[in-house]
Amino acid sequence: MARHGTLLQVVVITVHTSAEVRRLVRDSRARGDSIGFVPTMGALHAGHRSLLKYARKESDFVVASIFVNPKQFDQASDLEKYPATLDDDLAMCAAEGVDLVYAPNAASMYPKDHEVAVSVPKLGALFEGAKRPGHFDGVALVVTKLLSTVSPDVAYFGQKDFQQTLVIRRLVRDLDLGTSIKVLPTVRDDDGLALSSRNVRLDTRARQIATAIPTALEAARRSFERGAFEVGEMKKIVHDSMTAAGLQVDYVDVVDENSLESLDSCRPGAVILVAATIDGVRLIDNVILGE
Ligand code: PAJ
Repeated sequence: MARHGTLLQVVVITVHTSAEVRRLVRDSRARGDSIGFVPTMGALHAGHRSLLKYARKESDFVVASIFVNPKQFDQASDLEKYPATLDDDLAMCAAEGVDLVYAPNAASMYPKDHEVAVSVPKLGALFEGAKRPGHFDGVALVVTKLLSTVSPDVAYFGQKDFQQTLVIRRLVRDLDLGTSIKVLPTVRDDDGLALSSRNVRLDTRARQIATAIPTALEAARRSFERGAFEVGEMKKIVHDSMTAAGLQVDYVDVVDENSLESLDSCRPGAVILVAATIDGVRLIDNVILGE
């Protein structure tokens, strides 16, 4: 067990094994605490911070995990490039009043003969799953392991990864994991770009181009407010404005908020999902219509 802190000597207890997490959570439960949990892959930014803040407000004992999960990366190069900023991450957790950080290593999460798989085959095969085969099986596996270790009352996720929230809700329901899932709004930079650990890989020009994503989504949301319901037209506006800015569009679709099935007409609650690439950096975003 280690204590990491800032110069102000704010410390957060950090452990590396599931046994230690279970023991500390059990002690906390014995005191009557409610448990809130924020799973992350580190490289923490203000999007993660908002999840930590909610968890701190709503739960007695807050657990965060930091683990860059190799099973959810389909490209080895993407995994290698993933930023690692553990000291800063621990400082943020300490500053936000996190009680316990679980930072396992890959060998303890996945021993050599690890073989159990968790799959959400239909929801996990669409959109991001189609582009990144196996991605959501990796997410489902690690989230199942983390939730079973921490057994929180509530776990917090960001709307930024909309499909991920559906995959996780489905696995929690289907496996009777008994945690309630809370989804919090996407945190954006001043220029509208959704915060993402991958944004550090954008140079000034690419970053400028990337802002066409939130601009297009916001324009679509506003045209829906003004009465535009035609999906084809909506998709074309979003697609064309992102392409004109210089983005390579992977997909744009208007989907049902529970099944992710493509819709014929826009309605409140429907979600516009987009993914686009600039300079080899893949970015995703979404907007819920009528919000
Ligand atoms: P990671 O990308 O680190 O994100 C951790 C959580 O932060 C996710 O729930 C994600 O949706 C949320 N998040 C990311 N950017 C956000 C933003 N701009 N605004 C609000 N929330 C944001 O998602 C993962 O890690 C992993 O797949 C994980 C669930 C930890 C499993 O490995």
